[in-house]
Formats: sequence, C-alpha cells, structure tokens
Amino acid sequence: MEVIFLPKSWNVDQILDDLDQHGFAIIDNVYPTNYRQALVNECSSHLNEFREAGIQNGIVSNIRSDHILWINDNLNIAQHHIETLKQLSSTLNRAFYLGINDIEAHFACYNAGEFYALHRDNPQGKNGRMISAVYYLHEQWQENWGGQLHLQDKNNQWHNIQPKPNRIAMFQSDLLHEVIEAKHQRLSITAWLRSDQQLL
Ligand code: OGA
Ligand code: MN
Repeated sequence: MEVIFLPKSWNVDQILDDLDQHGFAIIDNVYPTNYRQALVNECSSHLNEFREAGIQNGIVSNIRSDHILWINDNLNIAQHHIETLKQLSSTLNRAFYLGINDIEAHFACYNAGEFYALHRDNPQGKNGRMISAVYYLHEQWQENWGGQLHLQDKNNQWHNIQPKPNRIAMFQSDLLHEVIEAKHQRLSITAWLRSDQQLL
C-alpha cells in the first residue's frame, strides 16, 4: 500500500494548538498545484452525478440547497485526500484521544444562490462525528462572492471564514455554523472524522 504523509506545508503544531484553544483551525496551501488540479478535474467531471443534499429524513431546501456526491473507492483522486485526513486523524487521536476510526466525505457544490442554514454536524453528540474538515476546491474566490463559513468557536466567538481555494477549515463537529449564500459556484469536499466506538 502507498504510504501517505501529511503535506510538508501543514503546520501540525499550529493545527493542534488552534483546535485546542478555539475548537477550529485553518490550513492554507493545502496541496501542491498538480494534485489540486487533478482533484478539481475529478470533481468537475462528476458534477452531473451530484444530487440534492438531504437533512436526515429527506430534502429540506429551506435549510440547505447545495448538491453533493458521496466519495467512494471509485473516486481515485479524492481517495488520496481521504488518506491524508486519516494520517491527520492519527495525530489528532494521539493529541486529544478522540478515537477517530473512520472518515466519511462528499463533494459539495453550491451554485449561485445556494446556502446551508445554521446547524451542527453532530447535534447531540450521537452520530460519531468528531471533527468536520472542509477543503475548498474552486479555482478562485473573491471576498464579495459570499459563501463564507460562519462559525461559532468553542469560546462562543463568531468567525467569517472565506472559502479560499486550497484551504481546509476544520472544526469540532458539535459547533454551530452556516454557509452564507454563495454568489458564484462554490466547490468543496466536506469530510467528517468519526469515532464509531460504542459508548454504551
Ligand atoms: C457541511 C458544512 C461548511 C462549508 O457540509 O455540513 O457545514 O464551508 N459545510 O462548506
Ligand atoms: Mn456543517
């Protein structure tokens, strides 16, 4: 099996410190250009397979209006991103004893006018999601295009995080957040680092 290392550009100590202090962390310049381009191409070539995103029991378009494609083994390029997040999970497990043992992920596409209203990814701490990690894939993003990730950190401070290309926004899945309406097509991979051990 191919051995995956965390990209050298990642400041792991900073990531751990930010997660510890604030419950979220931003990583910029995540991947080299050639891999990023391959991932954008894989995403773009499957856009016709994206489906309306659901909320638990169905589609509720006044809560979220984006379109998604779950990542499976057939999406080879995206698999490398998942493997990288597995490496990161080992580091997080050592630092915070999170017990992460699984990753689920989907591509997401917000077309102009689409958004995701205030929510938590793991509302009652019941679904195993520990950390959410969103990687922004579009080629460019301008500050006046909306689409910010509006997030309340663990100290109750609100942040407006720009979906800058080649950035990962990671946060505790129990934190409150929303995606502000995008004015241009906004592409991403949302991943959840999960701990599926039984607590009972
Ligand atoms: C989600 C989500 C944030 C973002 O997919 O649950 O909150 O910035 N995404 O795309
Ligand atoms: Mn979310």
